[in-house]
Amino acid sequence: MITKEIAINILQKHINLRFNHIQNKKDIFEYFMHKINHSYNVVGAIQRIIFNDKKLNQLSEEIKQIAIISATLHDIARFYQINNWEVLSWSIFEHWNAWYDILKNEWITDNRILLSIKYHNKVDIKWLYNEQDYVNSPHKEKEEIEIITKMVRDADKLENLECLVFNDFTISLNKYSLNKPSEKVIDTFLKQEIFSFKEINSNSDYLLYHLSRLFDINCLGTTSIINSYNFKELVISKLERLWVINEQIEKIRLILN
Ligand SMILES: [Fe+2]
Repeated sequence: MITKEIAINILQKHINLRFNHIQNKKDIFEYFMHKINHSYNVVGAIQRIIFNDKKLNQLSEEIKQIAIISATLHDIARFYQINNWEVLSWSIFEHWNAWYDILKNEWITDNRILLSIKYHNKVDIKWLYNEQDYVNSPHKEKEEIEIITKMVRDADKLENLECLVFNDFTISLNKYSLNKPSEKVIDTFLKQEIFSFKEINSNSDYLLYHLSRLFDINCLGTTSIINSYNFKELVISKLERLWVINEQIEKIRLILN
């Protein structure tokens, strides 16, 4: 049985930047450091979500441990991606499901860990329900896979949101030359649909992307943290500073509340 300590050892083994062959060192290093902090912060986020959620608190200690292990390892493949930045395009990486293969190479066989990591960042959690390894699991395991996947998805989003609000650090914000959101992004957002990272062309699009991810929050504990720190309003006020059209800001507020 894998423990939290083993999960941290596996993560540390993979946090190994092969620096010499990388050309764009400053940006890659910044992203690399961000991903290390992010991995550990998502572990903190999942623990806070459990703490703030009566239902999750009642889960067995084993399930809580598995959720923490999944959170620890959820972005492990990013370190592989960063080390192979110049040869591995984004779409090849996403298509390949590296998370899954890298963890299998680490002898992790528990589907609750494998599937929660594989589906932690898919656009729609419903994709999990068509996965053969999920469909073939016994009923109790299915329930566990689903709840752990929801927790990891939430923790990942919560951490990204906190980074955006507290640190203003994001890999992309202020790197887009445009501030104004694109029509398509605004339309998609107002329809309450989650859009893909590829559609981001401006700093406002980037903020709207993070806000749109809140349409897929699954645990009451996450909602309660987001509300108690007023995160939505803090991101909206950043949007207002970038691009002020009161009428649209009001629509965004209405949709989020
Ligand atoms: Fe993540």
